[in-house]
Amino acid sequence: MTAALAELLAEKGPRYRTATEYVEAALRQAILTGALPPGSPLRQEELAAAFKVSRMPIREALRQLEAQALVDFQPHKGAVVVEITPEDAADNYAIRAALEPAALRHSLPHLTEADFRLAEEIVDAMDSETDDSRLGALNRRFHMALYARAGLPRLLALTAQHLAGADRYLLFHVAAFGRAHLHQDQHRALLEASRARDADAATAILEAHLAEANATLQHYLQRRGAPAG
Ligand code: NI
Repeated sequence: MTAALAELLAEKGPRYRTATEYVEAALRQAILTGALPPGSPLRQEELAAAFKVSRMPIREALRQLEAQALVDFQPHKGAVVVEITPEDAADNYAIRAALEPAALRHSLPHLTEADFRLAEEIVDAMDSETDDSRLGALNRRFHMALYARAGLPRLLALTAQHLAGADRYLLFHVAAFGRAHLHQDQHRALLEASRARDADAATAILEAHLAEANATLQHYLQRRGAPAG
């Protein structure tokens, strides 16, 4: 814990406006890179001392990381780093691959020009977003914008739930491979095929988008989990 934190503190830059933002970004990076391995306890007092801040920004940062599904609050133990395994990621992608093309097919004939414009604005917003922690929500909003007219509320609720579960995997992608791995080209191709009401092309792009993300993540998580050396 101490060595990992010392390394993070050395990276402190001028880009954070508040102590909470800085602590949140530093801890997120440590979790995503594995410097803080799954199950690591995140003790508020210890962190406050290491970051040289009061406990309030620590507590707030931990809450925000909890909302991003990177930290878990356990009874009697307090905050710990969540376990992220290749198996969990594969499960999440398998569910999304089953739900999302179905939702898209049902929604596609009923999408309006306003829906397409909204989806387009969200893709553009992802390009200009500077805070990585907001990318998951934008990715979710983009995908859901295209499924919104499915007229199947329970299918959409399930889809939204598992898309939210994918937020942390998206954070891993960005931390490990950079912004290029958001696959904005695929988002735009998906939007174009949807606009053309080409259901086969649109679902094929969506399936490829999910399969590729899963394959990259599997490779990354397996390598990260392997013993050093
Ligand atoms: Ni996406």
